[in-house]
Amino acid sequence: MSIGKFIVVEGLDGSGKSTQIAMMKAELERRGLRVYVTAEPTDFETGAYIRRILSESLDKDMYLQAALFLADRLEHITHPGHGIRRYLDDGYVVICDRYYFSSFAYQGTASDIDWVMKINLDCERIIKPDLCLFLDVNPDTCKKRIDTVRETAELYEKDVNTMRKIRDNFLNVFGRLSDTHKIEIIDSNADIDEIFSRCIGFVDKILREDDMNV
Ligand code: TYD
Repeated sequence: MSIGKFIVVEGLDGSGKSTQIAMMKAELERRGLRVYVTAEPTDFETGAYIRRILSESLDKDMYLQAALFLADRLEHITHPGHGIRRYLDDGYVVICDRYYFSSFAYQGTASDIDWVMKINLDCERIIKPDLCLFLDVNPDTCKKRIDTVRETAELYEKDVNTMRKIRDNFLNVFGRLSDTHKIEIIDSNADIDEIFSRCIGFVDKILREDDMNV
């Protein structure tokens, strides 16, 4: 049993995940909590290969991509020095930028969604998050933001129709997981502070659940 909390932030590229994660980290640390921020794909060797596929838009089979993301996730969780498991056991609030929901929305729908869900959800090493926050931003806005910061678009950022499709995939996946997962869809077309107060509100709820259990 882990004593920390595992929070996942999902959203399209350009949805403002990094900004909100940084704000949450600062707020939770201000309150004296220990916070570990991490991301998928990871900075481990498994993640480096995936990043190359994404940045060079390599033509890799979707089943292979799903398996690579799963391998990277297992490294992310079980790494002896910097694994999520270790931080949770040490009592940290772990905030992860993307997790298996992304595999379902990006690879699942383009291969076999049931299989991608099964290999992730039925693997006993893969930890179920306490909370998933989905920053729901209009795909047109996301695409514009990406185009201002990147010279070349990554594999899944090529056009706004792809991004619209991925948003739909996320919403379908959340529907399928609503009985087993705590997922909050946050309308993130508002200003940064407003989005932050919505996010931290949901984080507070899961932190308070612990107080009630002691
Ligand atoms: P992203 O959050 O955009 O990282 P960065 O800002 O550093 O580029 O994630 C990179 C891409 O990885 C993103 O387009 C979604 C994709 N991805 C998947 O396709 N499947 C997955 O399981 C994960 C975790 C990410």
